Amino acid sequence: MTSQELRNKFLNFFEQRGHKIMPSFSLVPDETDPSVLFTTAGMHPFKRYYAKPDLAPAPAIVTIQKCIRTGDIEEVGDATHLTFFEMLGNFSFGYPKKEGSYFKKEAIAYAWEFLTKELNIEISRLSATYFKGEGGIPEDKESYDIIRNITKLPEGKIVGTGKSETFWSLGTENSPGGPTVEFYIDNIEIWNLVFNEYILRNEKYEPSEYKGVDTGMGFERLLAVLNQAENVYHTDIFEESHRKLHQLFKTENPVAERIILDHLRAAVFIMADGVRPSNKGAGYVLRRLIRRAIVKAKTLGIEENFCARVATTIGHSEADPNRLQNPTNVGILRYSQDDVFNEFEKEETKFRKTLAQGLRIIKSQKEFSGKVLFDLYQTYGIPVEITIEEAERLGNDISNETMKQFNNELLAHQELSRTASAGMFKGGLADAGEETTRLHTAAHLMLAALRQVLGEEVTQKGSNITAERLRFDFNYPEKLTSEQIKSVEDIVNEKIKEDLPVTMEEMGIDDAKKSGAMGVFDDRYGDKVKVYTIGRTHSTLLRQAQDRSGPIEKPFSIEICGGPHVKRTGELGRFKIIKEESSSAGVRRIKAILE
Ligand code: SER
Repeated sequence: MTSQELRNKFLNFFEQRGHKIMPSFSLVPDETDPSVLFTTAGMHPFKRYYAKPDLAPAPAIVTIQKCIRTGDIEEVGDATHLTFFEMLGNFSFGYPKKEGSYFKKEAIAYAWEFLTKELNIEISRLSATYFKGEGGIPEDKESYDIIRNITKLPEGKIVGTGKSETFWSLGTENSPGGPTVEFYIDNIEIWNLVFNEYILRNEKYEPSEYKGVDTGMGFERLLAVLNQAENVYHTDIFEESHRKLHQLFKTENPVAERIILDHLRAAVFIMADGVRPSNKGAGYVLRRLIRRAIVKAKTLGIEENFCARVATTIGHSEADPNRLQNPTNVGILRYSQDDVFNEFEKEETKFRKTLAQGLRIIKSQKEFSGKVLFDLYQTYGIPVEITIEEAERLGNDISNETMKQFNNELLAHQELSRTASAGMFKGGLADAGEETTRLHTAAHLMLAALRQVLGEEVTQKGSNITAERLRFDFNYPEKLTSEQIKSVEDIVNEKIKEDLPVTMEEMGIDDAKKSGAMGVFDDRYGDKVKVYTIGRTHSTLLRQAQDRSGPIEKPFSIEICGGPHVKRTGELGRFKIIKEESSSAGVRRIKAILE
């Protein structure tokens, strides 16, 4: 079965059973989810619908979601783990009140039918697990009985396990969670069915008003199992890139090859969603992936730039160029491939220079203590495995004691950066560094300017801000003219010159609404929200209006937002729009920088 056949089968199966098909969301979560750098599961873009099913586009949805998980990066290279993968998922919200929603019985029945009837997997290859209760949360007896009834699997093939295995939760306050049922093929975990029947409040799981279903099935794993492939790399998804790697280098180290293929594939998809290598947030993860691939390639004797050449062969099976809006297209062809491949070339050239410099330093070293290994890593970006290899080539043994010292240095450093980054990831930002904070404030100015130039119907549809640029989506039916773009730039730059104060007030959601603040009024906000005003504050204006019993003059910008922001617009520098393009039907995208 080809990857595309499997995708179609999955989507069609659930569509026929009342699910709305939706295309994959971006790998980079939008500002509604500042808690993570990447989308890690199909349910991520939907998580607020479990408590507020009225907001969901449909009570039952099916998707194939692009995901990145870096937690298992050390496992990558084995038969089943990947950094980038597609997750097949079906979802239900608002059970039992919402018509068309469903819960355990249907979800288990669908999964069983899909595996045994649609995919014709022999029952003898299948087994299941369920939650046997732990930590004050009761056993999910209901699921056990349903599995027994529907699947007729013998008792020994339905295994009860604990919280770490069959209970799923995002772990954040007010997020959904619940017991899971997992299906295995040949003892390989394939499908995770989560029954969100709790809500996490004050660190306790309380029964939730609405129940919901969130399932996730590893697409590449399933494809490999169905084709009885040796591992996930022996599927059509990796066929072209695998062949290219062989052609270019005739390498003979399967594990290193797989790591290179995995990392480059993840990097291509991350870049396709707009991230560029940098030292922060998602850009840093991207940089690390590319560097790890280059280091692996070096151990195979690859001394020339190769990433771009392999990258050009990636993503073709994931993208159907003729059907760009097709939900089975999780791919990259919506983006400029040239741009992505230039980035690889640039990044690789830069890193290879660093490596060469590092190798010279290694050569001049007399002694290799843990501290030296760490400094080479920290200051010059030389991965420790390269230092060890070179040191040994030069006749220096690296003892276990030295490695221990290195690891201690590393741990101490990680601890430091963890502390430094606690409280990071606020307000739709990749990080809360100075540059992102400035760009974030610029985004508020820009929205207000867009509304002046294009009309009050314009609202924000999404944003993503890194240290280098801001990306901002808004509704507008046509391409902006160069005059309109210039007017927006001029207004923003004028407001920067006026050095307006940026102030924050906390208020109830109703007051925020009354004040005319922009923002999406839904469950994302608690009872109190932060309202950021640029120009005179709302309460000052209100007071003035009352004093003079005149109308309230609106400040230049007023938005509900988590922050952080600069104190005065004068801190921003010069604002410049570098790109204006279509994002999707009726939605435009602007990229802008501060010079
Ligand atoms: N959220 C669950 C998972 O990530 C099921 O989709 O495994």
